[in-house]
Amino acid sequence: MFDQAQFVISNTDYRKCPKPDKPEFAFIGRSNVGKSSLINMMTARKSLAKTSGRPGKTQLINHFLIDESWYLVDLPGYGYAKTSKKNRAAWTEMIQDYLLNRESLQIVFVLIDSRLDPQKIDLEFIQWLGESGIPLALVFTKADKQSINKGQQSIAKFKRVLKQTWEHLPMIFLTSSETGLGKAELSEYIEHILES
Ligand code: GTP
Ligand code: MG
Repeated sequence: MFDQAQFVISNTDYRKCPKPDKPEFAFIGRSNVGKSSLINMMTARKSLAKTSGRPGKTQLINHFLIDESWYLVDLPGYGYAKTSKKNRAAWTEMIQDYLLNRESLQIVFVLIDSRLDPQKIDLEFIQWLGESGIPLALVFTKADKQSINKGQQSIAKFKRVLKQTWEHLPMIFLTSSETGLGKAELSEYIEHILES
């Protein structure tokens, strides 16, 4: 699994994405949370997906073909403060269209910075996914930047907030693109969905 990874195409429109004849998994979350880094970590390729210290690096819907049989999708982040109203509206349209209409999408991984308290913008986005009936899992990132205990506390806080509105909590992973933490669990989870 993840033996072969290749970039296929970037798009602004889900209708121009590769034919939806293979299962796919998308990574989304706030700008700079570590989506592109996580794709590189999962595929063991240093710069397959472009990363940057500056938020707003990924601007398009990027398809990566894995083992010639399924796709990982890197999406642009939300919540980038320095973007214009027009850009934000374009992002919303592009991402919502993709998420609502991409028939081969199996699950959306929502990435959350494990160092932060629950953020309104993440909670609202997760709420929207839930209301739209889009399957999701949560991936807490950058675990290496603090103790594991602190990361787990963040997850516990997040769960407490979610429980106020969600009956069933989604799958939750704690990861680090630096150390590879969570890679095995995330791979296994994807594999399980691919096999079912
Ligand atoms: P946008 O494309 O701008 O939305 O950002 P992104 O979510 O794709 O983030 P990206 O992967 O580009 O990472 C942003 C910054 O965080 C980069 O400087 C990464 O090196 C750093 N980073 C990402 N993941 C980790 C991690 O697990 N640990 C540490 N220490 N740094 C990380
Ligand atoms: Mg990115």
